[in-house]
Amino acid sequence: MLVSARSFADYRAMFALTDRDLEQRILDCPAGAASFVAEAGRRGVDAVAVDREYAFHREELGLLVELETRFKRPALVREAADFVWSWYADPDELVCQWIANARLFRADIAARPERYLAGELPELPFADGSFDLVLCSHLLFSYGNRLGEDFLRAGLLELARVARSEVRVFPVTVYDTGERHPGLDRLREDLDGLGIGSRVERVAYEFQPGSDELLVLSCAGYRAPARTAPCGTAAVDPVRWRHRERGA
Ligand SMILES: C[S@@+](CC[C@H](N)C(=O)[O-])C[C@H]1O[C@@H](n2cnc3c(N)ncnc32)[C@H](O)[C@@H]1O
Repeated sequence: MLVSARSFADYRAMFALTDRDLEQRILDCPAGAASFVAEAGRRGVDAVAVDREYAFHREELGLLVELETRFKRPALVREAADFVWSWYADPDELVCQWIANARLFRADIAARPERYLAGELPELPFADGSFDLVLCSHLLFSYGNRLGEDFLRAGLLELARVARSEVRVFPVTVYDTGERHPGLDRLREDLDGLGIGSRVERVAYEFQPGSDELLVLSCAGYRAPARTAPCGTAAVDPVRWRHRERGA
């Protein structure tokens, strides 16, 4: 699976993030080599990244993604007609941006390692409701045909468990087909039965044709069942919990 390096601006557009959203405590899962957390930190946003790759590669992940992005450029140029060039002007702009994002990621994971946690869906190393808003870009539905619907259901429930307010998942299409994931409506019904409401919104970010829809889960009414065997690091709170600082 490709480890990518999208930016704060990409995340703002993909997840329709408002200034108000950015006042909340945010989890980026999976973050890959994205620079969202790095750039958010510079703006004073309380954001944390989690990805399974951080167990194996940390600072060198940014370099690996930079090399991989350069390596993929010729294919991207060859296949340019398969993509929408409104967000990025052309393949060179995309490549330059992703390299710059990967470099920001690399500097931030070295400077603020406590913001970057190794963790793997469907069992994250956080206590229930650790974040207000959880963002999930280019994993669940994107690779849904390979991950399987049971994994998607478990992954969405795990993201909802650690979110106090909302989970936002982008896109809702499968990477290989460009079509909406065939299980999307079924999964939404299952989640609805557990007290997690949802809606699908069109957003101002489209790179794969037709992949401009965001799934928003409302988690405030969801109580996850108690774990039978708590995972080893379930209570990790890597950075100070801002709600507690505010006394909320
Ligand atoms: C396509 S990248 C997306 C990265 C970032 N969100 C972005 O948009 O640039 C997918 C990421 O999912 C991570 N990943 C794959 N399976 C995972 C799992 N079960 N739990 C956590 N991360 C996973 C990979 O390591 C990879 O970094």
